[in-house]
Amino acid sequence: MNFELTEEQQMIRDSARDFAERELLTDVLERDAKSIYPTKHVRRLAELGFLGMNISPEWGGGGMDNISYAIAIEEISKCDSSVGVILAVHNSLACYGLECYGTGQQKEKYLRPMATGEKIGAFLLSEPEAGSDANSQRTSAVDKGDHYLLNGVKNWITSADKGSTYLVFAQTNPELKSRGINAFIVDRHAAGISLGPHEDKMGMRSSDTHSVMFTDVVVPKENRIGEDGFGFKFAMKLLEGGRIGIAAQALGIAEGAYERALKYSTERKAFGTQIINHQAIAFKIAEMATRIEAARHLVYKAAWLKDSHLPYGMESAMAKLFAAETAMWVTTEAVQIHGGYGYVKEYHVERLMREAKLTQIYEGTSEIQHIIISRAVLKH
Ligand code: CAA
Repeated sequence: MNFELTEEQQMIRDSARDFAERELLTDVLERDAKSIYPTKHVRRLAELGFLGMNISPEWGGGGMDNISYAIAIEEISKCDSSVGVILAVHNSLACYGLECYGTGQQKEKYLRPMATGEKIGAFLLSEPEAGSDANSQRTSAVDKGDHYLLNGVKNWITSADKGSTYLVFAQTNPELKSRGINAFIVDRHAAGISLGPHEDKMGMRSSDTHSVMFTDVVVPKENRIGEDGFGFKFAMKLLEGGRIGIAAQALGIAEGAYERALKYSTERKAFGTQIINHQAIAFKIAEMATRIEAARHLVYKAAWLKDSHLPYGMESAMAKLFAAETAMWVTTEAVQIHGGYGYVKEYHVERLMREAKLTQIYEGTSEIQHIIISRAVLKH
């Protein structure tokens, strides 16, 4: 067993860290306060090769492994997890979905511009009444011969406005339940699509989140992904990999808060000494470091399994569950260590704490991860 990163993985880590520290940190507080989309930073992600980084060079991607991907998300999310989530949804849901299950024509038309970073992808599964229960899709796709007619509403969609290529899930045959669901590639600017207002979120405020309404949207037959009725399985398969990205994001948030808490506790003095010399603080720091190390192992292991073409659904759920809980705990303790300073924006830890909360909610709540893990354990 080799725990060392390869030279390439180290280079990606350094490049992501450099970008995050030099570029994202400079305006992250302002973008968070005003909910501003990171337009120039997303352009830089493309220049640096992070958009489509796992996609084969045949389709314009970087051909990198999933450990590198996890590391890139981790480093970026240490400084700014709004950019982390844009990257995660684009790469591990939209791009990966088309690379694995798209036709040659679909890849040429839709994957290539996403793999080069020219276009951003979005994943439209959640609905007002189908969040955790993704099977209860109410958006309908009626088969009209050479096309489908889409009607319905999607909720909480990352990159709904700035994204150009949507992967949309809809029910074609309600009697078949999950086996009646299909997935479609839909152009964000197709006639009949309208957006709800920008969501005023608690954290990750710089990413673009809206609901999306479909009214008689015409989707050509050739834009369906896979066989009729493949949509739900497709969503589940993508989410297995997507959870590695969100787990890496949670890991990065935890590390960002930990590094700040460590620095603060070696500088701040109380009762005649740096506060790290007080056992109450030193033990918190030790616990943070330990939980982060454990989360990192789970995240990299899940990524390694995916790279090795081995099953990774249970492990990615474990990584997501543990890393999200770690992020929440570490960021809360980081605020505590900072005392009053932790409660103001300038010190970043309150922002990281708000961001951590979302990792326990999206791409399956912690409760959903427990369901996935317990089902997998029972199957073994
Ligand atoms: N791979 C392949 N097939 C799978 C699968 C997987 N991982 N999981 C389930 N399936 C198949 C089952 O085998 C079954 O197929 P058959 O009918 O052929 O037997 C079918 O799918 C239905 O499976 P279940 O009965 O297990 O489905 P369920 O209704 O009990 O739901 C669930 C299972 C795990 C709870 C699922 O609903 C789920 O993952 N929910 C969470 C949804 C989620 O994560 N949403 C996130 C939205 S995206 C997002 O957040 C992006 C963003 O912006 C950040």
